[in-house]
Amino acid sequence: MKPKAVIPVDLFGQCAGYEKIIPIAKKYGLFVIEDAAQGFGGSINGKMARSFGDISITSFFPAKPLGCYGDGGAVFTDNDDMFQLMSSIRVHGKGTMKYDNVRVGLNSRLDTIQAAILLPKLHAFISSELELRNKWADRYNDLLKNKVKTPSVPEGYVSSWAQYTILLDDSEQREHIQKNLKSKGIPTNVYYTKPLHLQTVYLPLGYPKGSLPFSEEASERVLSLPMHPYMAEEMVTEICTALLAEL
Ligand SMILES: Cc1ncc(COP(=O)(O)O)c(C=O)c1O
Repeated sequence: MKPKAVIPVDLFGQCAGYEKIIPIAKKYGLFVIEDAAQGFGGSINGKMARSFGDISITSFFPAKPLGCYGDGGAVFTDNDDMFQLMSSIRVHGKGTMKYDNVRVGLNSRLDTIQAAILLPKLHAFISSELELRNKWADRYNDLLKNKVKTPSVPEGYVSSWAQYTILLDDSEQREHIQKNLKSKGIPTNVYYTKPLHLQTVYLPLGYPKGSLPFSEEASERVLSLPMHPYMAEEMVTEICTALLAEL
């Protein structure tokens, strides 16, 4: 199998390591599709997520850093040919004439109502929400560091904190903490319980348990805590106090 493209995924608000990925992609002639669904708002040395790939995508699903009130997403490119191709695929594969379809496409139009919701939310995202997410992440870090493994942001990177995710000792400890936080009304989530290679659809590719040990271990130990721009100081303190009491 000769690979044609690579899909780096920005996770939890942080850009993937594009400074390493892009040179490898160039060397092997691989097209780069940047999945910036969780990276939106993040950057590396001032270069924004969505600007690294030959094309990049984001999701406006409500749980994302910039979310609408239903389903939505966008593709970004500065390549004119790719723009024409995406515009056609978005509307049933249309050609220059609307009712002459030149390829098999999709219905991927963004609803007007979602676009209308996104406009003021984009403004809020730029003017305050990105900064607020960073403020709450710093506060979590202050209260939790040295007690659990907190997320680290490499030099030059800015995270948009799609998730604030800690690493616990093992799945038993995670289950215990999750259960006790839930009983206090504190929601948490696990992204993700099953690595891609172990999902039923990809089993035929032949990567059994043990093939990707880091992903497998992370899937047993990660826990995401509440994170959104409109948290309050007391909320973060309460969450951390409840969590630390269970260690
Ligand atoms: C990294 C990543 N890529 C893609 C998606 C898919 O987004 P959507 O559900 O809008 O298609 C998600 C959403 O969960 C995501 O987190």
